[in-house]
Amino acid sequence: MAQRDSIRDLAQKVGQTAVVRGWVYHRRTAGKLCFLEVRDGSGVVQAVVKKGAVPDAQFEAADKVRLESSVAVTGTVRADPRAAGGVELSVSDLQVVSACVADFPVGKKEHGIGFLMEERHLYLRSRRPWATLRVRAEVERALREWLDAAGYTAVDAPIFTPSAAEGTANLFRVDYFGEPAFLSQTGQLYMEAAAQSLGKVYCFGPTFRAEKSKTRRHLTEFWMLEPEIAFGDLDEVMSVMESVVSHAVSRVLERCRPELEALGRDVAALERVKPPFPRVSYDDALEMLKGTPAEIPWGEDFGAPQEDAVSAKFDRPILVHRFPTKIKAFYMKPDPARPEVVLGCDCVAPDGYGELIGGGERASDLAYLEHKIAEENLPKAAYEWYLDLRRYGACPSAGFGLGLERTVSWICGLDHAREAAAFPRTLHRVYP
Ligand code: 4AD
Ligand code: MG
Repeated sequence: MAQRDSIRDLAQKVGQTAVVRGWVYHRRTAGKLCFLEVRDGSGVVQAVVKKGAVPDAQFEAADKVRLESSVAVTGTVRADPRAAGGVELSVSDLQVVSACVADFPVGKKEHGIGFLMEERHLYLRSRRPWATLRVRAEVERALREWLDAAGYTAVDAPIFTPSAAEGTANLFRVDYFGEPAFLSQTGQLYMEAAAQSLGKVYCFGPTFRAEKSKTRRHLTEFWMLEPEIAFGDLDEVMSVMESVVSHAVSRVLERCRPELEALGRDVAALERVKPPFPRVSYDDALEMLKGTPAEIPWGEDFGAPQEDAVSAKFDRPILVHRFPTKIKAFYMKPDPARPEVVLGCDCVAPDGYGELIGGGERASDLAYLEHKIAEENLPKAAYEWYLDLRRYGACPSAGFGLGLERTVSWICGLDHAREAAAFPRTLHRVYP
């Protein structure tokens, strides 16, 4: 295997010869010196090419190479306290691996968002998307890590489904060999079945909603983490919500400092993200909204103005519980003490990032579910398997769904959830 040193590890190699394979990020020539900033995905290092220290043809190549061409640079690692990673490379050999055929379309100048979305495949090499994707990977790892350590079994949910779980207005229909089917809006119903086999389970995968809205929070394809706990209740769900979110944030703080810095994220705000998160009932939230422009009558659902106004009163994510039954999904369990509200909860992020998580206790009563399915005009045949769970000994369970892009968007301080996906899918975009 050819030598390939990671830029992130170069500080441990001072005085040694390293081979960096990456892309030219920036270039500046001053007389007999050519300064190449090279990035390799792990970081950026300055490679100093000195006339005379390399063959003339290599110096010329360094002086001419287009940004974003890929290169292999061999050199001695030198400590340099002024450099970003504390080191630079004195180059002894430079090979252009693949030169750009024209100037790289995405420059360091300001581009419009439309252009950057169209050129997403190339824009991914820029600093912000690089940092965001690193944080996203860390968040995914941390979420799984917490659940795996807590004894949950990962179960993969299907993507083709016969039924809707989150309303019929935003379903993506597909032609399944002549039969209608849908892209999954949630893996929840399947996790409810799996929890009856494995106890504590979770799925983590893509979900789909034909959202006609063009808000900064909505994607048509997004990833959701969905734990489901047999014998679980609302209190346990709220505790797991705050635990997984806090764990993901603390892992990012621990392992993604350069990324957060690249994103200009206020780290102090993230450091406050520790359990317990404030619990706010829907009723209390409505009280807080009284007399503000976001005031709504009891029974109406929260929109962005309500979420933002309530979360603005707190310095960390909050858990809003017991929403009115009539605005929530058919599977939510009404509070036996007050059937007009459900034993459900949303985790709402600060700073206008909105609902990161929704979940709660599942209705376990067969007759109640049959009634809800009829009331919402859902095709009962497609839910027979789900109703079977109640017919065949299913214990009550509880769980939730965490939206990955919204969570990453909040942790990174992004303008739009689409920035949290490598190739976002939105109302008007399926390219590239
Ligand atoms: O609140 P939702 O619709 O809940 C469910 O789907 C439940 N079945 C989950 C469960 O209990 N297993 O969606 C959960 C989360 C939201 O809080 C949000 O973060 C995210 O999924 N989400 C979206 N993210 C981006 N774009 C969209 N269109 C989203 N819709 C929901
Ligand atoms: Mg929700």
